[in-house]
Amino acid sequence: MKKNIAIFASGNGSNFVALVKAVKQRRLDCRISLLVCDNPHAPVLEKARKAGIETLLVERPAFASRRAFEEAVIRYLKAADIKLIVLAGFMRVLSPLLVNAFRGKIINIHPALLPAFKGAHAIADAFHYGVKITGVTVHVVDEEVDHGPIILQEAVPIKPADTLASLEKRIHQVEHRLYPRAVRLCLEGKVKVAGRTLKPRS
Ligand code: GRF
Repeated sequence: MKKNIAIFASGNGSNFVALVKAVKQRRLDCRISLLVCDNPHAPVLEKARKAGIETLLVERPAFASRRAFEEAVIRYLKAADIKLIVLAGFMRVLSPLLVNAFRGKIINIHPALLPAFKGAHAIADAFHYGVKITGVTVHVVDEEVDHGPIILQEAVPIKPADTLASLEKRIHQVEHRLYPRAVRLCLEGKVKVAGRTLKPRS
């Protein structure tokens, strides 16, 4: 039986597309059963529609409280038997309630070599700082933003002729290669967090 994963995204969705492609090309053995999106205008929504993947649009104002909102999301994910939550440009910080409900089963991709350049503008921050090497990090999510055990990292050199746009392009190319590999490692139970193996729930 294929394991169900949910991708959370708020924007463009190029990592979402890379994961869909990896499944289609059988480099990744799972079912992307759900896209969770918090932005009704995100281009990723159309990409999910084209790929035939169910979308859950989570609009916080529709709920009486943040807790009620998150409990509803957790119920939905559990009912869909989601084994792994894959954050791919999801701009909302997950609360401890959600992190706890899926402890060790949420991963994130960040366009820098963590712990350097946390935050929403990591590529530009690294570029403007003048570092010679930046990169991509995939990590397990904990309660802190852009923090948690690192699964994979890949360095991306910044060349003298680089512009922000050319660097962004190379970073995204690395992301699209790295994220399917990281998801596969998690689903195969090969990622250990504090002595525990990230095994799918039985
Ligand atoms: C990626 O750069 C990812 O590292 C960061 O958000 C961006 C999402 O891009 N967390 P996309 O929507 O997948 O194109």
